[in-house]
Amino acid sequence: MIDKINELLRQVEEFKPKAASEVEEFRIRILGKKGALNHLMEEFKSVAPELKRELGQQLNKLKTTATERINTLREELSATAAAEASHVEDMTRPGSASELGSRHPISLVRNQIVEVFTRLGYTVAEGPEIEDDWHVFSALNFPPEHPARDMQDTFFIEKNPDILLRTHTSSIQVRTMERQKPPIRVICPGRVFRNEAISYRAHCIFHQIEGLYIDEGVSFADLKQSLLYFAKELFGEQARIRMRPSYFPFTEPSAEVDVSCNLCGGKGCNVCKGTGWLEIMGCGMVDPNVLRSCNIDPEKYSGFAFGMGVERIAMLKYGVKDLRLYFENDVRFLHQFDSAL
Ligand code: DAH
Repeated sequence: MIDKINELLRQVEEFKPKAASEVEEFRIRILGKKGALNHLMEEFKSVAPELKRELGQQLNKLKTTATERINTLREELSATAAAEASHVEDMTRPGSASELGSRHPISLVRNQIVEVFTRLGYTVAEGPEIEDDWHVFSALNFPPEHPARDMQDTFFIEKNPDILLRTHTSSIQVRTMERQKPPIRVICPGRVFRNEAISYRAHCIFHQIEGLYIDEGVSFADLKQSLLYFAKELFGEQARIRMRPSYFPFTEPSAEVDVSCNLCGGKGCNVCKGTGWLEIMGCGMVDPNVLRSCNIDPEKYSGFAFGMGVERIAMLKYGVKDLRLYFENDVRFLHQFDSAL
């Protein structure tokens, strides 16, 4: 029995718990009702009287040591738990970085285009996305039967009088000329809508930038120089442009503008389909009928206008082959423009 008592005393001394729950388990095992101490007390009843004195003392010693040890351990553990709970973070530690957003490629290109024309003295003009027939078609010299008015291309909101989603930013030209007297120099970015099936090269919502310059004596040569300057600013000093005769109801003469392919340097590649040229916009001299519709005297004033698709320019600039990527907002795509200007 003395060996048992000594063994328990040794256990009490060596006991090194990590948590308060271990202390409680230990207390139950040693001092609990069915614990080791009570067992020994039972045994003690039947020991020989001559041994009772020594064993009794040892049993008492076990009881007090165990009780004291358990009490101190309890205090120690609750003190560390309290210290942990009130632990203050190291304020000098660098914080965890939160991910910064970046501009959408369409915004990047839009801003860049606007910035080039701002340097030429243009100011930004905007207009409503929901328009009437006058500003989108009639004032722009569209004959009543023109196919662009067809239900297939235009999203109509109301018929008679027609209210629709603008199909191009040329409507802002009209609104500006109605409001302002020449000289006028505006650049008009905005969203446009067309009833088209979505594919890698077409979308029902896209962005255009319109330009308009009206003053006395504005010529086609001015238009050409302005656009050449623009092409060099956007695609690099080596960029060249060419103009091909075209037709738009609101300009006469009209032209389609191509820029030399910046990927192959004009030699011909699969992006420019072997031609060395990429189509970037439509332009022309503002038709006198359009000036008249906006109460500007075509005898006194002349001007030029141009319009381009932002998605198209962005595709050419960044070599993006599928227009839908601009609308899906897949971060794997967007992150590639993090460091772009
Ligand atoms: N509005 C035309 C379009 O949506 C683009 C355009 C062409 C605008 C020639 C112009 C222009 O101002 O002169 O396709």
